Amino acid sequence: MDKILIFDTTLRDGEQSPGASLTPEQKLTIAQQLARLNVDIIEAGYPTSSSGEIEAIREISRKVKKPIIAGLARTVRKDIDCCLKALDKASKPRVHIFCATSKIHLKYKLKKAKEEILRLTAENIRYAKKFIDDIEFSPEDATRTDFNFLTEIVKAAIEAGATTINIPDTVGCIFPSQFSKLIRDLKKKISFVNVNLSVHCHNDLGLAVANSLAAVESGADQIECTVNGIGERAGNASLEELVMNIKLHPEIFNRRTNIKTEELYKVSRLVSHLTGIPVQPNKAIVGSNAFAHEAGIHQDGILKKRITYEIINPKDVGVKESRLVLGKHSGSHALEEHLRKMGYHLKKEEFAKFFTRFKQIADKKKEVFDEDLEIILDEVKKRIPQIWQLEYIHISSGNKTVPTATIKLKKNKEILEDSACGDGPVDACYKTIERITGVKGKLLSYSLQAITSGKDALGEVNIKVKFAKKIIIARAASTDIIEASAKAYLEAVNKAAA
Ligand code: KIV
Ligand code: ZN
Repeated sequence: MDKILIFDTTLRDGEQSPGASLTPEQKLTIAQQLARLNVDIIEAGYPTSSSGEIEAIREISRKVKKPIIAGLARTVRKDIDCCLKALDKASKPRVHIFCATSKIHLKYKLKKAKEEILRLTAENIRYAKKFIDDIEFSPEDATRTDFNFLTEIVKAAIEAGATTINIPDTVGCIFPSQFSKLIRDLKKKISFVNVNLSVHCHNDLGLAVANSLAAVESGADQIECTVNGIGERAGNASLEELVMNIKLHPEIFNRRTNIKTEELYKVSRLVSHLTGIPVQPNKAIVGSNAFAHEAGIHQDGILKKRITYEIINPKDVGVKESRLVLGKHSGSHALEEHLRKMGYHLKKEEFAKFFTRFKQIADKKKEVFDEDLEIILDEVKKRIPQIWQLEYIHISSGNKTVPTATIKLKKNKEILEDSACGDGPVDACYKTIERITGVKGKLLSYSLQAITSGKDALGEVNIKVKFAKKIIIARAASTDIIEASAKAYLEAVNKAAA
């Protein structure tokens, strides 16, 4: 299988993402991880932009030896000299020269005629060739460039010594079938013997990956991309998505990359951490939900056979395992399996009760965590006598009202209702429970703790109550702390009465 070269530009185009700037040490850390990932080329930066950038590229050139290290330069001698200097310690250096070629850029940005652009391109490539063999040329905004002029400038660049020609979709405006045709047409018009044809796609219409893959189908040899798809504006083609598409579709591409896919997740987290750009949860391949399943039907399928709902083995991209998220859509199979992993085996009737309680909690919380399950287990397994059960609770409280509780308790089939005022909503609850049950207790201690994370966390109430000469400890949990307080007190009353 022929190889497709992966040119990573996370440290150049990726770093052009608003707010993503990296220190030289951070750039080196990412470059080292990119080398572990086994990318073929690392574009380490644009040396002319700052002295820190030169320092970073020099350090990467000194320490990262396996991939080619590239630096970007305009068709200006000063840029090329600066780039050569920054790369002078690289084992395999590449100068990447670019010049805009579209009518729009020529007229409004460069204010130069086509002839001058042709001359500058050829002249500067020839100049660079005196010092370095590996030269890449990019006609910037190629996809909006007149096709005849594009072929003319690409031919001139090859004649002057370019060894890679990169076709950028600079503003992310092209469509896959159009890009595929453009690449085929270029290959018909120009001889690319000993010259690699590369593509560089931006994601303004969300098509950077699709366009790059269309170009590979048409015979491109190199794809330029970034980790997590970061980059100028809407970003560049995402490395992980490109690589996994090529790997999973040999029937289409019949090509391979050298990427060690098990490193993908690690490099994604590293880039996100160092640039401060979060990875969206539903991001393909590396998003936190990419291998998470919540729907009961899906969880059931995954537990029976992973491939029912996963086309990639998470381990292949460096993710430890799939995640079954416990929430309101989860089914009994996933829950039973999860409890088994936690070391619990419930009897059928216990599990039925557990499942009902789980669904009640899941309706109130987005995600149910192991701590929540432990609390439900307490409730289900403890078999505390249920003389009185909480049916209804209403509290009115505020800085200008007397806290009042109205409570309904169920005893056998009878519903008993009462209300009382108190020093606070919890005190009002406890007084009301005493009035209904007739069981008098003295609260010795009360503590409230959030036991799960997030705004919708469960609150656990632990209390110590003295009934006559007996001290009883009780606890309960709920997403509503007043309900948890009432339930804990009722548990203590039930224990005392029993
Ligand atoms: O998007 C672009 O055109 C570029 C070039 C410098 C290759 O980043
Ligand atoms: Zn770009």
